[in-house]
Amino acid sequence: MRNWNVRKIVVPPEAMPEEHRLKKTLSWHHLIFLGVGAIVGTGILVLIGTAADKAGPAMMLSFVIAGVICAAAALAYAEVATMIPASGSAYTYSYVVFGELIAWFVGWSLILEYSLVVSAVSVGWSGYFSPLIGIPQELATAPLLGGVFNFPAVFIIAVIAGMLIYGMRESATLNSILVAIKMLALAMFIVVALRVFQADNFTPFMPYGFVKSGPSGQEVGVMAAAAIIFFAFYGFDAIATAAEETKNPGRDLAIGIVGSMVLCVLIYMAVAAAAIGAEPYQRFVDSPEPLALILRDIGQPVAAKLLALSASVGLPTVILAFFYGQSRIFLAMSRDGLLPAPLARLSGRRNPVRITLFTAVVVGALAGLVPLNDLVALANAGTLTAFIAVCAAMLTLRRRDPDAKRLFRTPLPWVTGLIGILGCAYLFYSLPRYTQEWFLIWNAVGLVIYFVFASGNAERTRGKAAS
Ligand code: ALA
Repeated sequence: MRNWNVRKIVVPPEAMPEEHRLKKTLSWHHLIFLGVGAIVGTGILVLIGTAADKAGPAMMLSFVIAGVICAAAALAYAEVATMIPASGSAYTYSYVVFGELIAWFVGWSLILEYSLVVSAVSVGWSGYFSPLIGIPQELATAPLLGGVFNFPAVFIIAVIAGMLIYGMRESATLNSILVAIKMLALAMFIVVALRVFQADNFTPFMPYGFVKSGPSGQEVGVMAAAAIIFFAFYGFDAIATAAEETKNPGRDLAIGIVGSMVLCVLIYMAVAAAAIGAEPYQRFVDSPEPLALILRDIGQPVAAKLLALSASVGLPTVILAFFYGQSRIFLAMSRDGLLPAPLARLSGRRNPVRITLFTAVVVGALAGLVPLNDLVALANAGTLTAFIAVCAAMLTLRRRDPDAKRLFRTPLPWVTGLIGILGCAYLFYSLPRYTQEWFLIWNAVGLVIYFVFASGNAERTRGKAAS
């Protein structure tokens, strides 16, 4: 009988075989930039339209709800990430705290999250970039939405994959510059849009009610919008996956995660208020580039172009961070024997080239074929699962090992942890019905793989390591 509850003991990088070791190149300012770079993206730039469609002006509430829940999870992340500074994020924490089977479930959900975020943000990028250079809309739209294939989305995925294969350090520096451009563009939107602010646009405030209601796939309400706009807030977890490459994980991770989270919540509230105040929300709900559309509508075409340009150069930082996170999750799982070992092999430049190429093909196909809202909803399902696991891990460690050294302590841990767990569960419930069904199918397939291949292979890998 195999032991599905076996818990992982984190191996210090010094004890790993040379070909599995990652270089320590990152410090806290890299992480804040990696964090903000990963958080601010398609969520605020495109899904603000979807959220308005589902909640009306009350999407302001959806933003607050999703932000508070995400912040609770971020605090738990910071505590657990500094206690277990190893690659693999929620997957590794679950392995250490709950054992292999739960770790598999969380890791499998993270693979879903990271892959679909890469696809979704590439689609968002295509929404702003394609009109800029005059690509016909049907060549930048998924077949289900009446297009042919989203070619620009696949193009940007190929570019980012190339950067990752070239090397993390160069990519992180460039990332910092692009993040600055993206933030300046949002600041410009707020300043310009607030000049035409109309308080009347906020009434009626909550036209579709609070709780999720409506037919599967078209659910509306403040919570249905929160379940989608939740996408805009995560990304800080991609920082935690970089723990092993961080010079001083104890301090740097806490600053990186909490700092980037707080910054983003503040900016989003301002953007959402400015957008609704600028024009009736019905105008921009279906646009692939709602913020640019708003700027054009209020007679600011130059600002609209600048924003689209900034989105085009800034959004790839989100793709970069999640693509990076994806390869690290794969790496962590294959080192543990839960995924095939050849995947974990690093190239001469210490980069997981095979994983990067494999991921690029899969997420490229999804980005070309699947509509944005579907990608986002399913990515959120995976993320919510991981967040629940991390909050539960934080609380379990507090109970099991109250005196362990904690470099970062979650304030009011039980209140914060329970807001994280119950809030994420409620957001999951508020996702479209068919998304929840797809998520179950994904995990059912995962469990078959676990029992047929992964658990036995992990046991053999442990055996080899012990001998
Ligand atoms: N939070 C990231 C975005 O909004 C995933 O694009």
